[in-house]
Amino acid sequence: MIVAFAAAVALPVSMAGMEGTGQVTTLASPVTGNAVNGKKLYYDHACYSCHGFNGETGARTFVPNWPANLATERSFLAFLRGRANVAPVQPSTSMPNYSVASLSDAQARDIYAYIRTFKSSPPPLEKIQAMDQILAAAKKPYKP
Ligand code: HEC
Repeated sequence: MIVAFAAAVALPVSMAGMEGTGQVTTLASPVTGNAVNGKKLYYDHACYSCHGFNGETGARTFVPNWPANLATERSFLAFLRGRANVAPVQPSTSMPNYSVASLSDAQARDIYAYIRTFKSSPPPLEKIQAMDQILAAAKKPYKP
């Protein structure tokens, strides 16, 4: 319900990143926060523990396919505050509620600026040598 609300206010999404799947891989909406400060906040408020160090792993991933909740600064703030106002009564999810008391709007914008620096950069499968060795070894019969 919260996600749907945030998606509804997330309008200016770049079409440049739209691919066959319909998922957004590029965002062009304005960023006004300070990414350096945002990085510190991303760690201090434990975002990394559930969303990974670059948004590529964890409870919900942010890249390579940006969720609508991150399409704009406004949609991100709406998502964050929507949770804070609605969820505390009976939290049905595991993300903490970051109210203005624990994370100001300016701080949230800084975190948003940092998240927007995230890029998905996994190496191509064929470049992972250990993987080749593991696959080659797996083809050999097991002889204890
Ligand atoms: C304890 C784990 C946890 C922590 C800490 C956490 N999150 Fe989340 N986050 C989640 C989960 C689970 C969801 C899925 C939706 C929900 O819970 O409402 C989520 C969803 C999100 C989404 C929406 C993703 C989507 O697909 O729409 C964003 C954006 C987000 N988190 C950002 C943050 C930021 C920024 C912080 C730190 C200020 C943070 N999260 C801290 C667990 C966490």
